Amino acid sequence: MERRRLGSTELTVPAIGMGTWRSFDTEQDRTPIVDEALAAGINLFDSSPMYGKAEDSLARALGERRQEALIATKVWTEDADEGQRQIDHSLSLYGTVDVYQIHNLVNVPAHLPRLEALKEEGRVRAIGATHYQESQFDRLEELMRSRRLDMIQVPYNPLRRDAERRILPLAEELHMGVLVMSPLQGGILDRRPAPRQLAELGVETWAQAVLKWIAGDPRVSTVLTATKTPGRPTENSCGGEPPPFTPEQRNQVEAICAAG
Ligand SMILES: NC(=O)c1ccc[n+]([C@@H]2O[C@H](COP(=O)([O-])OP(=O)(O)OC[C@H]3O[C@@H](n4cnc5c(N)ncnc54)[C@H](OP(=O)(O)O)[C@@H]3O)[C@@H](O)[C@H]2O)c1
Repeated sequence: MERRRLGSTELTVPAIGMGTWRSFDTEQDRTPIVDEALAAGINLFDSSPMYGKAEDSLARALGERRQEALIATKVWTEDADEGQRQIDHSLSLYGTVDVYQIHNLVNVPAHLPRLEALKEEGRVRAIGATHYQESQFDRLEELMRSRRLDMIQVPYNPLRRDAERRILPLAEELHMGVLVMSPLQGGILDRRPAPRQLAELGVETWAQAVLKWIAGDPRVSTVLTATKTPGRPTENSCGGEPPPFTPEQRNQVEAICAAG
């Protein structure tokens, strides 16, 4: 698995990470998925209080392997007191949080100073913000320009390229890390490339091709993909294996997407 520096932070992150939205909101034991992910080099896990039981289920599944992982989680509430409770809960689960994000830019004025204080104390290693809607990229850009963030998390794939035009160039200019959310959403998995096309791309599955296309953008730190299905962490990790696609292969992925 290729690894990159998260912007100008001290953190080295894998090209493919694991999200926990939906897939970890469960009482079921997710240890097998976490163990498979770690074995494949996927050691960054992204969660949020918005994902129901996911933070707790991730902590349980990691157990004593916590130190082998990087935890990215979020604070997500308009209420300042509830935000403090969320932060206290995450820190009680993980000890320290490697990447603490403000989920969907909710109540930044209340949460950001707290995260900055925790970073000073060494309990948080990097601070960021996320948004899933392109319509909110103006707000995200404004916060990026404040230089108070180390990273951002946005949607980006060959069918969803607004971030490529405005957010990724700014992140590069400001030396910020970039996590990519929801790489396999938006109908991209409905595309059906021929086996010959996958062979030309040097991958076995279309999901691997999509992940490799995103991870091959040098401004991207980590592509987060989520699964509850055994075998898929290993499959998806191949999207982060070198060598990256050539420009011709990138064009080919885009052509498959454009063909519908
Ligand atoms: N606003 C925000 O901050 C925000 C918003 C959205 C997402 N996120 C983060 O980004 C993470 C990733 O986004 P996402 O959850 O939308 O992940 P995703 O990887 O884009 O989509 C997950 C879906 O793809 C399926 N899948 C995964 N690997 C596959 C494969 N190899 N072949 C076929 N299907 C596959 C999964 O099904 P199975 O489970 O059945 O395998 C699941 O239904 C989230 O989990 C979350 O941590 C953040």
